[in-house]
Parts: sequence; C-alpha cells; structure tokens
Amino acid sequence: MFLWLLVANVNVPSHAWVLPKPSKSKYPGSFPLHFEQRLLKLLQLNEHAAIIQPFGGKAELGVKVDLARTVKPTIIADAHCLPLKDEAADLVILDPPYSNGYSTSLYSIKQQLSMKRYLTEALRVLKPGGFLVFYHLYPIPRPKNCSLHCRILLQTRIYHKLRWVGIFKKA
Ligand SMILES: C[S@@+](CC[C@H](N)C(=O)[O-])C[C@H]1O[C@@H](n2cnc3c(N)ncnc32)[C@H](O)[C@@H]1O
Repeated sequence: MFLWLLVANVNVPSHAWVLPKPSKSKYPGSFPLHFEQRLLKLLQLNEHAAIIQPFGGKAELGVKVDLARTVKPTIIADAHCLPLKDEAADLVILDPPYSNGYSTSLYSIKQQLSMKRYLTEALRVLKPGGFLVFYHLYPIPRPKNCSLHCRILLQTRIYHKLRWVGIFKKA
C-alpha cells in the first residue's frame, strides 16, 4: 500500500480540465483550445517566459521545433537532437506522437521515437527550476533530477481518450 502511494505520487496536486473544442489549427493531435494559455496561468508564467516545444506542430507559444516543414516551425530539427543551448528555457512542452505508427501515418515522419533521448534533450535545454510538461495518453515516471510538480487530467471531445499531462520541475 505504502509503495503504491509512493509510485502514484498521490499527494501531488491534480487538476481536471475540460477543454472540449479542438484548436483553431485543426492539426492532427493539436492541443485543445486555450490549453497553452491555461498552462501558463497555472504555472504563473507570463508571455516573456522562454518556451520550447520540441514537437511543435501548430502550437501557438514559444520556439516550435518540428521535422515537418509543412507546419512552418521556428526551427526544422529533430526533438532528439535540439540545436539549442543548454538551460535556455523556463518551460519545455513535449507533445510527441503517441507511437511510431502515428508518426508515420499522421505526420509522414520516419524518425523512430526514443522517449529516453527526447526527454534527455528536453531536460538539457531546460533551466534549473524550470518546468517540463509531458502531454500523453499515460503517466510516465519522474525523470532524473525532477520532481512531479502537478498533473492535469484532461478531457477533450466525446469519444476521445483522456490525456495525462505531467508537469515536472527540474531541480
Ligand atoms: C502531436 S503533434 C504536436 C501538436 C502540437 N502540440 C499542436 O498543438 O499543434 C506531434 C508533432 O511532432 C512532430 N514530430 C514527430 N517526430 C518528430 C521528431 N523526431 N522531431 C521533431 N518533431 C517531430 C510531428 O511532425 C508533429 O507535428
């Protein structure tokens, strides 16, 4: 029982958000409407915060990195090898494709995903004390040198799976 409480981090603040409309971009897998703005508010960050989105897609905020030229990212690059300085960001938002199959079928990207490698890169470019947001279908373990700051359980449209948004703070 004690171990389960520890693994699930039950004392960490949890939020339930319902953001039912898709973003204006209508891009596959895009954040729901208002997600990024609400995230900034939750983390008490303002528009001057340095934000990096390694799987940028058509997200709204910060430096968007993406391998797909069609989304007109700020930087065309691989999330596993970011051409960015160490400790440059206050906030890194990771919204990877949920599988290699989705990567190919939805975005025509053949690069295989390695969670270990893209997490390492995300943490390299994050300042100490900065936030790492992981937007996915399921919870992941706390990355090394990070604490779980809070989590958001997110409902979008009907018949859509719930999302797990883990927010980690780098030591
Ligand atoms: C789930 S979508 C992100 C959507 C974004 N959050 C939005 O609101 O539009 C994932 C994105 O990652 C990109 N991608 C896939 N593999 C990548 C990689 N290795 N490096 C950089 N971008 C990649 C895809 O082209 C796609 O735009």
